[in-house]
Amino acid sequence: MTIMKDTIPNLKPATLITPLAGTGVKVFAPATVANVVCGFDVLGFAVNEPGDEVIMRVTNKPGITISKITGDDGRLPLDPSKNTVSISVRHYLESIGRTDLGLDIELHKKMPIGSGLGSSSASTVAGLFAAKTLLDDDSDPVKQLPFAMKGEEMACGHGHADNVAPALLGGFVLIRSYEPLDVVRLPHPAGLYCAIVFPNVDVPTREARQIIRNKILMKDAVTQWGNIAGLVSGLFMQDIDLIGRSMQDVLVEPVRSMLIPDFYQMRDIAMNMGAVSFGISGSGPSVFAFTRDEETAKLITKKLQQHLTGIKIGSNTYVSTINDKGPRVLG
Ligand code: HSE
Repeated sequence: MTIMKDTIPNLKPATLITPLAGTGVKVFAPATVANVVCGFDVLGFAVNEPGDEVIMRVTNKPGITISKITGDDGRLPLDPSKNTVSISVRHYLESIGRTDLGLDIELHKKMPIGSGLGSSSASTVAGLFAAKTLLDDDSDPVKQLPFAMKGEEMACGHGHADNVAPALLGGFVLIRSYEPLDVVRLPHPAGLYCAIVFPNVDVPTREARQIIRNKILMKDAVTQWGNIAGLVSGLFMQDIDLIGRSMQDVLVEPVRSMLIPDFYQMRDIAMNMGAVSFGISGSGPSVFAFTRDEETAKLITKKLQQHLTGIKIGSNTYVSTINDKGPRVLG
């Protein structure tokens, strides 16, 4: 399904309610795997866990405040002019002409920062979804994409959409074009499992973007676009073998893999255990493997965790199917 929309949203403030002071909502937004190995900046999918939670309450005083952030070890700013969640929500309120509203944000980080799992996107999307829910705004979620991208720009210096789009929309998403923004929801085979391992080393996206080459060889470009087309075809055809053999990256992985401890050893372990594919999640250091069943995904995460322990690196592991729903209200 193509869900191309105007880059400038045209939401209708008149249709939105004015929630009473004290009204609140708690929402969850999911982690995401961006790039999906071959689709740098253009492919991503959402997972069921981990993710972030936002509690948003309507206040009496116009403007956005952040009263609490937990789970971030003090790394994220409470200043609303510097925080990606409040910045995105402010852009949303401006676009619908509702800067008269007062909103207070509590952000509960339930996933690691700088992990390559779309941590800032999950927070931003949770904030946007909370505001939208409070306003009873039932417009297409893709309309909030430009605001979420502002949050990404703030977080890592570049407004890519391959984390925020799947976090907002759920499922597997292609960013066909950035200018104009053209986002395509892709199908995926049922029963595809994702095994994720986050080696506990810090790889900030901003830095992981700076080390990649900005000129590429034509022969590498040919390999890469063949793989992207193969992956998208495999998703439509539900052909897991085609998906697996298309998930090769000759452009970014050879450089970024250097930032990830024992990347190629981990890939060998996962592939020898029956993974369909293996690669870097987003800008890393998290890695992920697709598998055909939950048991294989669990065994792979266990084995990779043991391997990392053996080289004295802690890790977090997650096993999930693809999350087709995106953000949701928790209460
Ligand atoms: N496409 C982005 C990158 C995703 O690889 O830098 C960051 O999570």
